[in-house]
Amino acid sequence: MKQRVTVTASPSLALIKYWGKQDRIENLPATPSIAVTLDGLYTRTEAEQAPDGVDRVLLDGQEADPARYAGFFDHLRRELGVSVRFSVSSENNFPTAAGLASSSSGFAALAAACAALCGADPGPQRLSALARFGSASAARAVFGGFTLLRAGAGSAEPLHDAEFWPDFRVVVVPLVRGTKPVSSREAMERARLTSPYYQNWLDDAAAVAGGAREALAAKDWSRLGPLIRRSYLNMFATMFSSDPPVNYWYPDSVKLQQLCARLRSDGVQAWETMDAGPQIKIACPAADAEQICRAVEDELGDLPAELSVCAPGSGVSVTRQPV
Ligand code: PMV
Repeated sequence: MKQRVTVTASPSLALIKYWGKQDRIENLPATPSIAVTLDGLYTRTEAEQAPDGVDRVLLDGQEADPARYAGFFDHLRRELGVSVRFSVSSENNFPTAAGLASSSSGFAALAAACAALCGADPGPQRLSALARFGSASAARAVFGGFTLLRAGAGSAEPLHDAEFWPDFRVVVVPLVRGTKPVSSREAMERARLTSPYYQNWLDDAAAVAGGAREALAAKDWSRLGPLIRRSYLNMFATMFSSDPPVNYWYPDSVKLQQLCARLRSDGVQAWETMDAGPQIKIACPAADAEQICRAVEDELGDLPAELSVCAPGSGVSVTRQPV
């Protein structure tokens, strides 16, 4: 019977960043990362068997570059021992390829949808490994709550479920619409090859992740917050010092970094982080989220999209329908 599979997945926001690959073919991360899956933001992916035997991906209604997906589909077919070609349509309820971790939810949803369409039930660990092949951060987005992806690991592991820290929120501030000029894939490789600080980044990463893991287990903002900040700023140090440099920051990104610093000096736990794009995400206690949103709006006025306040969310969810 012909089937359509629908999967939803939420983005995996790294509190402690992965940046750089240990193995480019296998897509293994060079640094450990710790992330939270964001409730309320999601990718919704539908997959069917391709009628004409050619893989096809529609992303927010636009035909996606087949080269970005060819290796992923071939790897998935090899791993599952199938020859199916896939017709996929994927939509995000948040900006795509703009530094909001859309590739994490995108490849997690894609791996789950394609595996389900082939009748496979890989289980979370193997699904995480399949998703990793598309995007290392997607290995984490398979799981809900808080996750760990170790340096060199083939799959992520759940650390704490979505209910573990009910008071945890992330305010997501979309500053710019439109895709980033340099992909994270290219930028991290450039940093590996040319940044004089790349080795320092690797050397510091284990201590940052180890400390953050303990602070997260203790739900301790005063220890976790400074490590969130250290991780993203160290990561950007490798980008600014790449040749040619990579700079995703916009003036409004810097304004919000400074706003968070002012809020912290007033006693608010507002810990911003950034990925490969200008957008700002602010980790904070639930009780402070509204004050932070108001402060962001006062600082910037009109934003290109709504602010989101995200609690820790759940992992991928799969439904199958006959067509
Ligand atoms: O998985 P990718 O290729 O989208 O790279 C993700 C890189 C960062 O978002 C900057 C950090 C992370 O750990 O998600």
